[in-house]
Amino acid sequence: MATTLITGGTVVSATGRTEADVLIDGETIAAVLAPGSHLLGTDLAASVDTVIDATGKYVIPGGIDAHTHMQLPFGGTEASDTFETGTRAAAWGGTTSIVDFAVQRYGERVQDGLAAWHEKAAGNCAIDYGFHQIIGGVDADALAAMPGLVDEGITSFKLFMAYPGVFYSDDAQVLKAMQVSRDTGMLTMMHAENGPVIDVLAAQLVEEGKTDPYFHGIARAWQMEEEATHRAIMIANLTGAPLYVVHVSAKQAVEQLAAARDRGQNVYGETCPQYLYLSLEEQLGASSDEWGAFEGAKWVCSTPLRSRAEGHQDHMWQALRTNDLQMVSTDHCPFCMKDQKELGRGDFRAIPNGIGSIEHRMDLMYQGVVTGRISLERWVELTSTTPARMFGMYGRKGVIQPGADGDIVVYDPNGHTSIGLGKTHHMNMDHSAWEGFEIDGHVDTVLSRGKVIVDDGAYLGAKGDGRFIKRGLSQYLV
Ligand code: URP
Ligand code: ZN
Ligand code: ZN
Repeated sequence: MATTLITGGTVVSATGRTEADVLIDGETIAAVLAPGSHLLGTDLAASVDTVIDATGKYVIPGGIDAHTHMQLPFGGTEASDTFETGTRAAAWGGTTSIVDFAVQRYGERVQDGLAAWHEKAAGNCAIDYGFHQIIGGVDADALAAMPGLVDEGITSFKLFMAYPGVFYSDDAQVLKAMQVSRDTGMLTMMHAENGPVIDVLAAQLVEEGKTDPYFHGIARAWQMEEEATHRAIMIANLTGAPLYVVHVSAKQAVEQLAAARDRGQNVYGETCPQYLYLSLEEQLGASSDEWGAFEGAKWVCSTPLRSRAEGHQDHMWQALRTNDLQMVSTDHCPFCMKDQKELGRGDFRAIPNGIGSIEHRMDLMYQGVVTGRISLERWVELTSTTPARMFGMYGRKGVIQPGADGDIVVYDPNGHTSIGLGKTHHMNMDHSAWEGFEIDGHVDTVLSRGKVIVDDGAYLGAKGDGRFIKRGLSQYLV
């Protein structure tokens, strides 16, 4: 088995930082040692197969993106990243595990939806992958099938209070699924927006001729995110189910989560880079020769971008610092402008919802360290350690310690990354939602289970390197 020593770097965890060398034996971390250690009298650096010099750099557990949608069928098309292209882009950006969403819809068996996702992913991934289960049709069959998912390593499921006629669950269905969550320990993940109200507002806007992408965000008003978040919290409270609200973008929704946590309820929230950096105002102002005001379609996602004047972005950063929000995932759901987003030209309701960010999450979140909004340790916690703990992977993932998988990123704080097409772009998209972002910092080297898959601007991995992660229950259950 090949041995690797990462030497001279600062090993950063969720709880601290230390100058240390990391020894990897095969796929697994064997030791974290004082710099320059000898083991049984041997000079380690001289006896291992590979030495990676991390002097002046951070050595962090590989990023875990717990919210991605490879090849998601949506709005008459399919998310443009396959498991192959999307996980390779993730690797480039320092993410070494993803948790994607298998889909079940009305009339479909949960097991068939899961099997279809295994088929899409198996043998194609660059990094390790697990699945949550979307329950898009909560009926008696689905409810009966859900407990069996735990044995398959699928210990969380997502419900939608939005998208009537597609993935939507009404309150009675939410109640029944949450009762399964309470009984099994599966974590309920909630898309918390009031879909029926939003759909009426959207139809009224289109009737008034307000069809540009910007109106997507007007229809999806923060009041309907706050209201749905509150409703989800109260149904979870009633049932005793643990709750994790995905892609939170409204500061009022954060306030609902914080209030519930203050009351002692077991609820958590995730936000995404787009809700920290991008805004409705910029979407309104977006225009290009090619697309005109339809340029704003690049940033159509749900929940939507929020107004900067209303202070949502600053509040998200604050909530990440104060632990009112616990995690940052991407909700990576890429669509090209050509042939995909443009389906909604003339009617924003037909724009497929989603932004591609899997490649940039670690860099974008590191900017929070650079600007003093979060600490170095919190960066690791938000992007790796908490995702591992929240979704039943901790010990193997999310930490640099003996026995853990050798998933490690060497990050250069003095490096620089220019984001954009033709620069650092590896996602299967014809545009970047992050075009022009300049990053202080650089992902130098990425190891996945001990294998160097990215190094010094070269991709060294292969399709099929990634394995399925059979997850346990969340560590956040009480
Ligand atoms: O815009 C988004 N978020 N697209 C993906 C589906 C979802 O709701 O997460
Ligand atoms: Zn969602
Ligand atoms: Zn999503």
